[in-house]
Order: sequence, then structure tokens, then C-alpha cells
Amino acid sequence: MNILGISAFFHDSAAALVQHGRIVAAAQEERFTRRKHDDAFPARAVEWCLAAAGLPAAALDAVVFYEKPLIKFERILESSLAFAPGGFPAFLRAMPPWLQRKLHLPREIDKGLGGRYAGPILFATHHESHAASGFYPSPFEEAAILTLDGVGEWSTATWGIGRGSQIRLEEELRFPHSLGLLYSAFTLFCGFRVNSGEYKLMGLAPYGDPRFTDTILREIVDLRADGSFWLDQRFFRYAAGLRMTSGRFHRLFGGPPRRPDAPITQREMDLAASIQRVIEEIVLRIARHVHARTGMANLCLAGGVALNCVANGRLLREGPFARLWIQPAAGDAGGALGAALAHWFGHLGNPRHAEPVDAQRGSLLGPAFDDAAIDEAIARHGAVAESFPTESALVEAVATELAAGRIVGHFAGAAEFGPRALGNRSILADPRAADMQRRLNLAIKFRESFRPFAPAVLTGRASEFFEHATDSPYMLLVAPVIGGRPAGDTAQGVGIERLRHVCGPVPAVTHVDGSARVQTVDAARNPRFHAILDAFARRTGCPVLANTSFNIRGEPIVHDPADAYRCFMFTDMDVLVLGNRLLRKPAQPAIEGAAAYQRSFKPD
Ligand SMILES: [Fe+2]
Repeated sequence: MNILGISAFFHDSAAALVQHGRIVAAAQEERFTRRKHDDAFPARAVEWCLAAAGLPAAALDAVVFYEKPLIKFERILESSLAFAPGGFPAFLRAMPPWLQRKLHLPREIDKGLGGRYAGPILFATHHESHAASGFYPSPFEEAAILTLDGVGEWSTATWGIGRGSQIRLEEELRFPHSLGLLYSAFTLFCGFRVNSGEYKLMGLAPYGDPRFTDTILREIVDLRADGSFWLDQRFFRYAAGLRMTSGRFHRLFGGPPRRPDAPITQREMDLAASIQRVIEEIVLRIARHVHARTGMANLCLAGGVALNCVANGRLLREGPFARLWIQPAAGDAGGALGAALAHWFGHLGNPRHAEPVDAQRGSLLGPAFDDAAIDEAIARHGAVAESFPTESALVEAVATELAAGRIVGHFAGAAEFGPRALGNRSILADPRAADMQRRLNLAIKFRESFRPFAPAVLTGRASEFFEHATDSPYMLLVAPVIGGRPAGDTAQGVGIERLRHVCGPVPAVTHVDGSARVQTVDAARNPRFHAILDAFARRTGCPVLANTSFNIRGEPIVHDPADAYRCFMFTDMDVLVLGNRLLRKPAQPAIEGAAAYQRSFKPD
């Protein structure tokens, strides 16, 4: 039984294939089209999922879309009539172009599958899809489930219980009261892009003083003991589909929004710190409520807000649940996976047995390229590559380069599903070097950033470096670095300058508040990456590497060997690993077009 899940026409379109309940393939459209957050019908991702399983479209038994377009249309229509100053005419003008396509979804899906699929097209609700993506792949036979995001049809947050193959959602919060939209409003107000800048706002928070927290809770958010809340719509404009924030919001925080090209000031840092506090408080309250109502020891999380790994870290340390499992593709891309799983388990009632590790397979569910494809790309570029008698010889060579302070692009195995690079499409470097954070940013990403990189650490040695160390295979939990904060917390420097004065054992991956976004690496999920870390640790005593996604700023993570080679050549990366080949920069023929390459991606 082959089930294809699709998410599309909002942001982060994706496709996922589930065969007899097993996750076989999942990929986001942006990787193929090279358009970040591509929201078009995921034709290339669908095509690849089918090819990966060797299936024609006609062999699919069901296609499941991740939300219900008519209910969503009703929500947009109703809220426009209620909130838009111009009522229905304003709604028509503001009606997003995707809505047209969404209303004709069966036709769009039919077209996207080339007219070769005649089976049923089914729909899960948006939060059913998120909940399914959070629970079914988790290692738990039973768990509480919490979904938190911007908005789907009407729901903005739901909680429920997963048991075996069944999920029951118990309560919901409804639009326009939304944690995701609240966070997005502050993201936009601080001059970052909605749907990609939320991560930056979270990264900015440690620089700020949460002096607006009380103002937000007094004026904007009416927060109750059970974590449910009500947002005063006089501060917002999103329900009318116009803007995120109103004049009243701007007056409350001392003036108009920051322009994206303007310098970041203390106000933005303090706003970031304040809204982060509010989000954490809400998440903790909801979690306590859900725990009290369900009595469950385990919690599964999904929805875009579940990518807030600082809140996740606090939830694990201070919250009532013993264990957390968070869907790595927590945003809408993961809805494709959830929709397919919801059909197999929830609707068809097939039995489910939780796998001890989890069923997400390290989230290494995307396209892979074999030696032949890699050698073909190398030949096509006239590139010079070294081969090794064994994989371990290659791994040792990579570790030697890293230990010598070189920056290595590592492209191997299947691509990650979800926004984080987990080793297979990663740029790796020695995290102990004091200047590595700046070097990686300026020489590779072409940006100056106030954010550190993430540490990848051998699972068994995480507790030597991080407090409350726990399994964090998908880089979704922030934890304090042991010795990462200067004694007495006397941080040097002002503003984002402070990142240069971070101390501790791994400064390139330590934030100004002494925290880090940890990825634990085990041999079961990713044997190659585990071997590289192990070889690096044998040389240096340090089982940690800095891990950042393989791309420049604004570029989707590299998809094929040609993307990887180009990114390698047009940046100051020293070494490139393509599968089982190793390429050194000085050995490569000159290549033109660096400036055009950098210009081709809009900074985000
Ligand atoms: Fe969502």
C-alpha cells in the first residue's frame, strides 16, 4: 500500500511517501527548484519520491493533502468579513493568489501527477497532519501530543493523546489567537522576514533584556493558567489579511518597525528577549495543563513553533514530561509526512508498533546520489578528486583536515528532511577555534551574524559538554554549555560584538548566554557522521564539531553534487567531500561566476 502525502500552496511545499506504514521518502520542493520556501505544487519532490521507490504514479493507492482547503477558505472569508475595514471587496483584493489554486486542488494534484493517477484524493486537517507527524514516527507507544503553529484551517494549537495507531485531539485554540502569528508579528516588527526570520529572532533573544515581557502580557496577551490565551486584535492586522501589526502595536513599542536593512538596536534585542519569554511561559503552561489532563509521561511536538529549540530546551528541563519527541520537519513541510501517516494509521487503523529509536530514520529521507552520479558531476566540472581504498580511510582524511582548522563541506548519503542540516548536507569545522564563528560567516555564508553555529557531538560524550544532556538527534533542543559562560557573567563587548568574546571549550558553537543548539550523533542514525566525529575526537580530544547547513545565505540547502561543488568553489571552503570522494580547493581548476552566484540568492 503506497500513500503519497503532499503539502503545498502556503509555504514549504513537500511530498512524502509511506509504504505499508514505513516512511520511505520525503523531500521539500525548494531543494529541487532552488527557490527557498517554494510554495508551488511539489511536482519535483513528488516525482523524486516515486522514483526513489520505483513506482509509477498509477501504483499509488492514495494521495493525501495536508489540510482542508474549503474550511481554510471559510476561515479566511469569515475573518476578512469580521476584521477587514473594507469587508468583502478588501478581501477580494487581498485574497492570496494561492487560494485560487487551493480551491481547485484535485485538479492541481491531477495535473501535478501528470494525469496518471486515478485513485482517491483525501484530505487531513492541518493540525491532524502536524499531530500525526509528531506522534506516529515517535518512539512512544502512547504519548500526549501538542501542535503549535501559525494557523491552518481554524486551529492554531491543539493537544490530544496518541495511543497505538490512534490519535484523539481533545482541545484547540482558534484563529486569530495564535502563538505562531504572535511570534511572526514580532519577527516582522524587528525587521526579519516572516517564515524564515523566526529563527533569527530566537537567536537575537540572548542579547536582550526581557523588559517588555510584562507589557506584552498586560496589553496584548491575556494568558490564563491553562496556557490558553486571547490576543487583543487591536494590536494586529493579520486577521484582515493586510499587515501583521497595527499602529497601536508600534506606539506600544516606541515607534515604527525596524527596516530590514537598518542596524539592529537594543530595542530589537529586548523585544526578542521579551517575546521569547512570553512564548516559553505559554508553552510551559500548556504543557502543564496537558500533562495534568492526560497523565502521560511522554510528549510529542509538531507545528512551526516546535522549531523554537530554546522553548523546547526549557520544556524538557522544567516541564512535567519525562521525555519529548519533536518532529524534525515540524513546519508545514512535515505536514506532507503527517498526512500520509494519518491515513495509514488513523483512517485505515493499521497496527503500529513504536520503534525504540524512532521511525524517522534520522530524518535522512531525501535524495541521495551514488558514486556514478558523483563521478559524472566531478568529470563534468573538470574537478580533481581523490579516492580512498575504504570509507574509514576517507573519514580519517576528513578528520585530519578538520583538526588542522580547515573548513569541510560534507555532502554524503540521503538529504535531511526538515530545515536543519544533520551531517549529510553540512559544512563542518573545529568549534574550539575562537575565530571560527566569524570565519564561517564571512568566508562561507557572506554575512556577519549574531548567531553561533550548532554543535554536533558524539551521543555518549554530550554530558561532558552540555548540561542536562539528552538525546537530541534533530538539533531541536538548546542546552547550557558547561563552562560556556564567563564567571560572574561579565560579558565583554556591546551588542552583537559580544559573540566574539564568548569563552568556554567550544566558542564557535556557544551563544552569548552560554547556550548551544545541540545535535547528538549516534552510529545507528548516521554512521558516517558518527565516524567523522569519532576520528576528530581521537585526534583532538574534542568530540564536537561545528555544523552548519551547506549553502550560502538565502540559498536552499544544496541538493545535488553540482550545487555542492559550486557552493564549495565560490566560497572559502577548503575541502569538499562528495560521497566517497575528497576534493581540495587548491587542486581545482579556476571557475568563473562567483559574484553572480552570490547575487542569485536574496539574503533572507
Ligand atoms: Fe502549520
